[in-house]
Amino acid sequence: MGQKLDGMVIPKHVALILDGNGRWAKKRGLPRTMGHKQGCVTVEKTVEIAARMGIEYLTVYGFSTENWKRSSEEVGALMQLFRYYMVRLLKIATANNVRVQMIGDRRRFDKDIIEGINRLVRETKENTGLTFVIAVNYGGRDELTRAARRMAQDCVSGILKADEITQETMESYLDTAGMPDPDLLIRTSGEIRLSNYLLWQLAYTEIFVTDCLWPDFDQEELEKAILAYNKRERRFGGVK
Ligand code: IPE
Ligand code: IPE
Ligand code: MG
Repeated sequence: MGQKLDGMVIPKHVALILDGNGRWAKKRGLPRTMGHKQGCVTVEKTVEIAARMGIEYLTVYGFSTENWKRSSEEVGALMQLFRYYMVRLLKIATANNVRVQMIGDRRRFDKDIIEGINRLVRETKENTGLTFVIAVNYGGRDELTRAARRMAQDCVSGILKADEITQETMESYLDTAGMPDPDLLIRTSGEIRLSNYLLWQLAYTEIFVTDCLWPDFDQEELEKAILAYNKRERRFGGVK
């Protein structure tokens, strides 16, 4: 690791919106799919860098509930990339003591993809290093809606009492149950919006947006984000 981060606080949980694969490809006169392919290589590298830096949780937005709107060609290519990279990721996770988790509604994927996800989670669950969380078919509103539905069902069956629902109860019904909230959100490629990402969890997260397109993201960019994070004053609604 570079000396740049000496004495810096490493955020415990970094959330990433990896955006700009399409623009990266367009700039080079390549099909969008090539941007996604290169983006997967960057994801692999980022997992290794984050693990080395001592980040405890890294959550990346890989495919949103709204991304199904894209052409069937692009969605199909993304699914093929998942298939391929799930196998590679198992090797990388094992070599780097990384535990993989998934958030989002995986039921919409093909059976072999669901099995691949389950295998990746199962075979890395004892690893004690970085927890790498992949958000696939994830949307903040969808997550909250699914949580509300399960809470309502539990109220009907008597497991839960409506007037005893607290913020902690809410959290325990989210896909991220048991994970700390992100300290730092990084979005690449310059767009300053959340795009339905972790709507509950990002309530007090520090936001860093870089113009760098996701396939070009590297250790230096991550270090820039962490340096900026160290200059922020987190107040959580209080006074300092
Ligand atoms: C992010 O890159 C990857 C996914 C959303 C799957 P984009 O595909 O959104 O790239 P741009 O925003 O079109 O450049
Ligand atoms: C957000 O990026 C979703 C992922 C990175 C998976 P999008 O490219 O889909 O978001 P918008 O359309 O620019 O808001
Ligand atoms: Mg985009």
